Amino acid sequence: MIVKNLFGNTADGRQVDCYTIRNSSETAVDIITYGATVNSIYVADKNGIFADVLAGFDNIDGHENHSDYEGMTVGRYANRIAEGKFTIDGVEYNVEKNEKGITCLHGGGELSTAIWKAMIVDDNSLEMTYTSPDGAMGFPGRVDFRVVFTLHEDNALKIEYHAVSDKKTVINMTNHAYFNLAGKGNVLDHILQINADAYTPIDENSIPTGEIRPVEGTPFDFREPKAIGRDIGAEDDQLAIGKGYDHNFCLNDGDGPAATAYDPESGRMLEVFTDLCGVQLYTGNFLDGTIIGKGGKPLVQHAGFCLETQYYPNTPNMPEFPQCTFDAGQKFCSCTVFRFSVK
Ligand code: BGC
Repeated sequence: MIVKNLFGNTADGRQVDCYTIRNSSETAVDIITYGATVNSIYVADKNGIFADVLAGFDNIDGHENHSDYEGMTVGRYANRIAEGKFTIDGVEYNVEKNEKGITCLHGGGELSTAIWKAMIVDDNSLEMTYTSPDGAMGFPGRVDFRVVFTLHEDNALKIEYHAVSDKKTVINMTNHAYFNLAGKGNVLDHILQINADAYTPIDENSIPTGEIRPVEGTPFDFREPKAIGRDIGAEDDQLAIGKGYDHNFCLNDGDGPAATAYDPESGRMLEVFTDLCGVQLYTGNFLDGTIIGKGGKPLVQHAGFCLETQYYPNTPNMPEFPQCTFDAGQKFCSCTVFRFSVK
């Protein structure tokens, strides 16, 4: 069942709607038209008690004024582009350097702050569309974006991303949900597993150096399940740059989950499936309790973890990475599934 409600109005008076998709076990997902944002996900714990497992905001003001992309659809180029520039067919493009005037982060925030058009597809699917004009944030091509959110009966939220441009351009889309399976506190005791033998170390601007470094013997080894907090404070030059995990993992091939997270206390479990080659693990390191989130509670450090499925960061400048430059008319299409259960 899908129900539509008014979520609020932006400071400049644009209406933001909230669509709630609910399945027969009462699992529910709130999606708002501002940023095609997954605002809340309500799932039961091992005793059948429901909680919202996303850290973020319960009002539009929070999203507009304090956003760290909580739950938002991110693009047109998720993650970073070094110095906000890249070249396609000999033409240099200079895009928004919205991060300290140095890098382009999350496409300059365009998709995350746009009001998307919503359409109910059926009882469990919602489609959101947005057209980005040619030259938006400096990127070439007018791009039609379409994101379809489906909540299945097995408590899997499927997110399908589609985009097509009228000019050759770069596209990398993701969702920036901050998961907290306990629905409270921080996530340092959550047990995480990532199916990645390697990750991409970063420089001081969080841009990959180009090295594909094995996780073996490093705090980045999540091949066996371990608490997020176990090694987060280890002495490690990479953890020092990100103040914790803020890195792209190079996913191994295979049909199983790219990542699995488990909260031992509530028993809630999350499995992440994707057809993409990378996932950014960001552990909410820059949250510091100064911003007030849902229920009037501060968003403390590590209040949530993000598993941003993606092409590797800065791909347009890294020919050795799997590429995400798309020709005019060529379809970008990708799918990520977040499946919830209890253990
Ligand atoms: C980035 C972080 C950033 C966060 C919020 C993540 O995708 O990797 O460095 O702080 O987004 O913008």
